Amino acid sequence: MYVCSCFGVTEKQVQEHADAGACTPRQIASACKAGTDCGSCVRRIQAILGRGNCPRRELVDQGRPALTGAGALADADAVELPEAA
Ligand code: FES
Repeated sequence: MYVCSCFGVTEKQVQEHADAGACTPRQIASACKAGTDCGSCVRRIQAILGRGNCPRRELVDQGRPALTGAGALADADAVELPEAA
């Protein structure tokens, strides 16, 4: 089932990116552009991300740094998301 109709991104693809370490809609957008056009899918992406475990979130919960290196920071800020409706 499509999550992002603007870019033809499926729920399975979002889940695969999440399994690969994407924990936020912004990180999903960096991986596949989902959520970067009309923005109507961002809440659905958030819901999908909320279902799984996030290794980075677990690190933050433990008080440890979740991002390492300049590349991780640059990647996290690579795509601006539109305001959710
Ligand atoms: S449906 Fe995802 S950006 Fe429009």
